[in-house]
Amino acid sequence: MKKITVRCIKCNRIYKSDEIIYVCRVCGGLLEIIVEYKGDISRKTFEGRDFYLWRYRELMPIIDYSKIVTLREGGTPLTRAKNLEKEFGLKELYIKNEGLNPTGSFKDRGMTIGVSKALELNVKAVACASTGNTSASLAAYAAKAGIKCYVLIPSKKIAIGKLAQAILHGAKVISIRGNFDKALKIVREICSKHNIYLLNSINPWRLEGQKTIGYEIVEQLNYEAPDTVIVPVGNSGNIYAIWKGFKEFYKYGLVDKVPRMIGIQAEGASPIVKAVKNKSVEITPIKKPETIATAIRIGNPVNAPRALKAIRESNGYAEAVSDKEIIEAQKLLARKEGIGVEPASAASIAGLKKLLEEGIIDRDEKVVCVVTGHALKDPEIIFRMYEKYVEVDPKIEEVEKHL
Ligand SMILES: Cc1ncc(COP(=O)(O)O)c(C=O)c1O
Ligand SMILES: [Zn+2]
Repeated sequence: MKKITVRCIKCNRIYKSDEIIYVCRVCGGLLEIIVEYKGDISRKTFEGRDFYLWRYRELMPIIDYSKIVTLREGGTPLTRAKNLEKEFGLKELYIKNEGLNPTGSFKDRGMTIGVSKALELNVKAVACASTGNTSASLAAYAAKAGIKCYVLIPSKKIAIGKLAQAILHGAKVISIRGNFDKALKIVREICSKHNIYLLNSINPWRLEGQKTIGYEIVEQLNYEAPDTVIVPVGNSGNIYAIWKGFKEFYKYGLVDKVPRMIGIQAEGASPIVKAVKNKSVEITPIKKPETIATAIRIGNPVNAPRALKAIRESNGYAEAVSDKEIIEAQKLLARKEGIGVEPASAASIAGLKKLLEEGIIDRDEKVVCVVTGHALKDPEIIFRMYEKYVEVDPKIEEVEKHL
């Protein structure tokens, strides 16, 4: 009932879907999965099903639905942010809260597909390099699937909650004295040498799960596309995946327009922003990326061609925000809307504020900010950057002094 093809985004070469391959063998280009469903796709196809990722099973690249590995990912809220609308003077703003996935980030959408695919390929071990959330998610899905999991993390630059999750779910955690880009380079070699399945976002199967963020936004807006979608960008897979989701719903006639995609990076790790502003088709890697938002502390994003494609095709844009702006946005979202996110996620809110001021986003637009990970992933940042709490003797008057 469905045809699944693997295609190089650079030279269009086609590969078989049961091959373990991450980039084109001929030109080194990134790979893309194409799912062609042979039946009708309409609103009715999904109606009446639970609101989670596998609601869209016809459009997912897994043949045997009975063998999927799922923790009931997806189906996250799209919340109207009236208080922030007022704050920013914006007509319509929605927050797509990906922190409410099973392990607390959007990565779960990719891992349900990635680990289901790993079982389909009959592999016994999976691995990733990670700024944190990928490792937390992969560890949980590998545990559910009963396969081994190895994660490589940059030493001292991963938020404590994420590291705790990877350990909790039983992954073998290896800390590398170097940054994420180095860890990724090593894990890619280890995987090809030892027959371990690589589940970083260079793996195109993962992005197929993440594209459902686009599907869900359309459904939650009652089959309308927003004008603009703002996404925090690190290794650059997610912005492309979401864009792919919108394009597919458009192709199936489920929505009559697509939004423009805006990527936000941290100033100290913004190679995509520089490329977009210079109208370049390639990035110049940043050797020593630095930002408080550790999830997007990436200098050489492997999916750069994908992000640049999404931004170009959608008439989108990219902007950088400072660490100070990120923390201010995190606080604003938490205190105006009651939504707690980790710093990387707050980049989309900081970006919105900046782009409204710059006039790149109009105040009468319908905007969706994707927030990618939960606040509890990185509690240390809150103790470090926010006001201190007080401690007093156990007496009413002592407490009253602080009311
Ligand atoms: C919370 C959070 N936001 C954003 C990103 C960036 O996503 P991508 O690497 O797909 O650009 C990540 C990736 O680790 C993340 O963990
Ligand atoms: Zn190729």
